[in-house]
Amino acid sequence: METKTKIAGAELNSFVLNASGVRDTTLEELEIIGKSNSSAIVMKSCTIEPREGNPEPRCAETPLGIIQSMGWPNLGYKKYIEFTSLLKEKYHKPIIASTAGFSTKEYKEITSAFQNSPVDFIEVSVSCPNIENHPQVGYDFEATEELLSQISNLGPKPLGLKLPAYLDFIQQKQMAKIIKKFGISFISCINSIGNVLIVDSERETPVIKSRKGFGGLSGDYIKPIALGNVRGFFELLGGEVSIFGVGGIKTGQDAFEFLLAGADAVQVGTVFEKEGINCFERINRELGEILERKGYSSVSEAKGKLKYL
Ligand code: DHB
Repeated sequence: METKTKIAGAELNSFVLNASGVRDTTLEELEIIGKSNSSAIVMKSCTIEPREGNPEPRCAETPLGIIQSMGWPNLGYKKYIEFTSLLKEKYHKPIIASTAGFSTKEYKEITSAFQNSPVDFIEVSVSCPNIENHPQVGYDFEATEELLSQISNLGPKPLGLKLPAYLDFIQQKQMAKIIKKFGISFISCINSIGNVLIVDSERETPVIKSRKGFGGLSGDYIKPIALGNVRGFFELLGGEVSIFGVGGIKTGQDAFEFLLAGADAVQVGTVFEKEGINCFERINRELGEILERKGYSSVSEAKGKLKYL
């Protein structure tokens, strides 16, 4: 069964696409996503200037997920604008830019440049946990408002926010109010959970080198937290703002759980890293089978339909 869906009014051919930050930094990697069954191409968060990122090892896998402290390695936003034209022409699927910055001024320059590019959506990351002395903007509501007052009116393309995990409803409420105030078109819930530590007890060290071992956590570990955030925002935003579910989705059943919670589509990172491009087709097919077995005739029919006990 088809799993077509819509984000901010635009059609996506399927419910599953890549999440920013995994195998999406170089043109070669983006072309692989272009050729895959990912329903869009999400690009690595980019900054004004190219960056090498943090020292290696900066990423480690465990059976339950990944810890990473990449530090925004990317080619600089101008390259991603160049790539967008090329990728659009070749792969005919939506391109999603992910923007980052060290100041409002930088976010403004990058967002404005993407607004004047062929990109389809702009996902503004306010939740990178891995930059020294650079707090996650999304945990500071005043700073988020200030940022959005500067970047939410720079052009016609749908603007979204990649949000950090909120562990208290009051934070979700505050953020939902800001999302409505600035007319944000979509949100991606959640980014990797910041500043966790995984220890190798044999070596008596952290498993990554950068930032003394602190890093962002993704994968199975974070799925229930992501689901809680998707559901919380779905209830608060009343279905008016599109939601990408992100966090520990690796099967069609996981995707179905996010759909019931209120997601319009899911982005996959950890499973893409571990399994490669096969994951997009597989998860999508599994989701289609579940929907069919349960008698749903479309993705939208099941959206948000979590039943209470
Ligand atoms: C990086 C990590 C993130 O979780 C993010 O949202 C953006 C960038 C990184 O370290 O490169």
